[in-house]
Amino acid sequence: MGDDALTQAVHDRFVAVNGEHPMTAADDAYVREHFVPATDEAMALMLEDRLPLPSYVLGDGTAMVPAAHGRLADIAGGVDRLHDWFVAFWEGDLETGQQEWARYLSGQHVALREVTPTRIKQAAERVAEAAAAVDLLRRDPHDPLGRGMLGEAVDGVIAVSGLDSLLLPMTGYDRLRFGGPTLREQWVDAPRAAFLTPGPPDWPLRTERLVLRPHEPADADAFVDAWASEEWTSMLLSRPMNRAEVQEMVRRRTEPGDGTFVGLVVVTHAGDVVGDSMLHLQGTGLTEGEIGWTILPQHAGRGFATEAARAVLRLGFEHYGLRRIVANLDARNDRSAALCERLGMRREVHRVGDFWSKGTWTSSYEYALLAEEWRAGAPD
Ligand SMILES: CC(C)(COP(=O)(O)OP(=O)(O)OC[C@H]1O[C@@H](n2cnc3c(N)ncnc32)[C@H](O)[C@@H]1OP(=O)(O)O)[C@@H](O)C(=O)NCCC(=O)NCCS
Repeated sequence: MGDDALTQAVHDRFVAVNGEHPMTAADDAYVREHFVPATDEAMALMLEDRLPLPSYVLGDGTAMVPAAHGRLADIAGGVDRLHDWFVAFWEGDLETGQQEWARYLSGQHVALREVTPTRIKQAAERVAEAAAAVDLLRRDPHDPLGRGMLGEAVDGVIAVSGLDSLLLPMTGYDRLRFGGPTLREQWVDAPRAAFLTPGPPDWPLRTERLVLRPHEPADADAFVDAWASEEWTSMLLSRPMNRAEVQEMVRRRTEPGDGTFVGLVVVTHAGDVVGDSMLHLQGTGLTEGEIGWTILPQHAGRGFATEAARAVLRLGFEHYGLRRIVANLDARNDRSAALCERLGMRREVHRVGDFWSKGTWTSSYEYALLAEEWRAGAPD
């Protein structure tokens, strides 16, 4: 078969599978970025159903395949062994293996960054997990199982790849041929926006003596003297800061971020700034928060840190649906450890000599509190 006839025959097979849809210049550019032209040898094997059909055909008729298109056959020990090697990944379920082989041969795995049986299986498992998670979270957006499952499905956990790393963005052409949103839009972007994007609470938070609200640029003034003090900053991660640095820190906290860092300024009902606090949302499905606090020296010893921290714990558990809140501190920070104990947090970790801080090796503590423990002990 001549080159043109070969290209035409592959194009016809491609259209038979995918339908006739226009490829725009943007689609072509996307495909050139992520795929490579098929060789004549590969195209001949496609027509014999021995290698997968193209992932795309460009506007000019060039058949495009993943860069590793022929490599699986090499790994399998030759193109004749590819089928048996491929279906063995569905050991014990030959029917699914054959269906997957048919999908693979038809070039439909265009969503995957890497088209291998392992990745095909992982993506299918993660999509099923995301679908089950979305079902749970539609009923209760804080459902801890749903959040864990969705976190794993979208972002992965240690040794398990999530869809965000498995999937390519895809292109407008794919929306036409698959008749809907891309896999990434459906299983990464949409569930992340709906269930893994923290929204702000109704500010401000109020307690008996305090108001907690987001930072304003003018708050910097209140913190300048404390941040200049070697003593006050000695147990914090940061080093002392001058006025301009404090202003910059406060300014950055006024910028809208992705919602995972919640900075709070603590003021009295009379409007005096007495300290600040933060809650950093993290972990699988954003279900863990790290809490932090400071009280200005002139306001210490009056229970303001305790009162503010209780409000932040409530915010974490009730508004953000956290299942666990932790505090990490320098083990020499007796006042912070005492605060954790007052809050009913459990000292779970004492890391000995793990942490380099301001010229010395020191130890650290991690305290934690689970949502159910907080509910059992929380004041009404
Ligand atoms: C850690 C820090 C926030 C703790 O502040 P704190 O003043 O000890 O804590 P509180 O505001 O809750 O005050 C508790 C004290 O007030 C007393 N108190 C008075 N009225 C109170 C009330 N209504 N409710 C509770 N406690 C009250 C408590 O008995 C306690 O006194 P004690 O320390 O003698 O036992 C503060 O030391 C600090 O900002 N340090 C520098 C920055 C820092 O290290 N941050 C933490 C990094 S991990």
